[in-house]
Amino acid sequence: MSEELTEYQGPATMEKITSLAKRRGFVFQSSEIYGGQSGAWDYGPLGIELKNRIAGNWWKTMTQLHDNIVGLDAAILMHPRTWEASGHVENFTDPLVDCKKCKTRFRADQIDPANLAEKKCPDCGGELTDTRKFNLMFKTHIGPVEAEAGAVDTNLIYLRPETAQGIYVNYKNIIQSNRMKIPFGIAQIGKAFRNEIVTKNFIFRTCEFEQMEMQYFVKPGTDVDTFNEWKVQRWAYYEKLGVKMDHLRWHQHGPDELAHYAKDAYDIEYLFPMGWKELEGIHNRSNYDLSRHTEFSGKDLQYIDQENNNERYIPFIIETSAGLTRTLLMILCDAYDEEKVADKGNDDDYRTVLRFHPTVAPITVAILPLMKKDGLAELAQDIRTELREDFSTDYDQAGAIGRRYRRQDEAGTPFCVTIDYESKDNGTVTLRFRDSMEQVRLPRAELGERLWKEIREYKRLK
Ligand code: GAP
Repeated sequence: MSEELTEYQGPATMEKITSLAKRRGFVFQSSEIYGGQSGAWDYGPLGIELKNRIAGNWWKTMTQLHDNIVGLDAAILMHPRTWEASGHVENFTDPLVDCKKCKTRFRADQIDPANLAEKKCPDCGGELTDTRKFNLMFKTHIGPVEAEAGAVDTNLIYLRPETAQGIYVNYKNIIQSNRMKIPFGIAQIGKAFRNEIVTKNFIFRTCEFEQMEMQYFVKPGTDVDTFNEWKVQRWAYYEKLGVKMDHLRWHQHGPDELAHYAKDAYDIEYLFPMGWKELEGIHNRSNYDLSRHTEFSGKDLQYIDQENNNERYIPFIIETSAGLTRTLLMILCDAYDEEKVADKGNDDDYRTVLRFHPTVAPITVAILPLMKKDGLAELAQDIRTELREDFSTDYDQAGAIGRRYRRQDEAGTPFCVTIDYESKDNGTVTLRFRDSMEQVRLPRAELGERLWKEIREYKRLK
């Protein structure tokens, strides 16, 4: 086995990624004209395309490629008892301390234990408060009236902090409507909200984010094997996505890291520019969630195994839980490259390129007429019309061709098609590859087929 990397390898920094993301319309700070809203981000034209493709890729992997996994889109607002049953009201807390002098707030588990013991602020040396538990769930009110101070708040409602619970409360509905038999899974992609105190590192940890979660219901006793199988599958997923596999590793949760529901948990970590960080969690949640929902709802959530003498049991749940927005950040960092491509002694010697896998690239193919005149623009538009049914396309006729290639490189477009005078004469076009910058000439009629082949057989060069 190769040595584990200790430091991030590559040219990306969080500053460069944040600035490229803004410049090219991947991600903008929320409400920027008002000074920005921390913990919230907006996905621009390229960002939403990238996010949709990552989500689509995950969805296909989970549902289309598995006989026994179906989808769900549950509401963000759920009955407040859900969160009592799930343990989030009681346990979903961060330990916080405040500095009485400079008023900075810290997560007690993220500052030097010596500071905590001496109750000295790591920033200014001022006195720290006692550690307090702070619940991460956002609370709001449903209906027109908020409760009077001191009264029981019957209108209180939470924004969901994980998508998983929407699946658990629907598990019986799905068994009945879709005749599911254990083992089976339910997949869901959606927003989740957490009142995070530390939201640095761009979109890594935000208050509003998206999760891609799959809950797999199994017979107790088969949970450990299933857990191990899902670990293998999730690792293979990243391999297929074409990310740098030496930038991924496993981290098993120790007893003090395990969430309140977990019997065993492994994170897949990615080596971001700021170090190794969690990307996805694979959890053995035991029968904790369904037992608790049975207790709090009074509904029988046992599975009845009709093929096995109507044996009844509460299933165990194996969960794979990935952040969609965090995966997007990982893919941006992973794809980011800077390369020397010429030796003229100016800025044009270098290019910034996003080496996205073609299945997630926001634009698959850009159509570039060498000139606007002499019918080349019309011909290029015609080719675009032909390709756009099958591929996400862009059209650019502004500026020197070299500059246009660079713009597409920076957007991560894997293929460019250039139309020139020869195209008019003999119906051939030039296909240019982002990674190698190589170009081939081929008949226009073969373009669609060739693009499909290149996407299917794509191998990252570096
Ligand atoms: N249902 C289990 C669950 O929510 P988690 O480890 O708390 O487990 C799962 O979250 C994944 O969701 C994380 O691995 C991460 O990718 C993403 N995630 C969690 N909190 C996040 C936040 N504040 N901002 C962005 N992504 C977050």
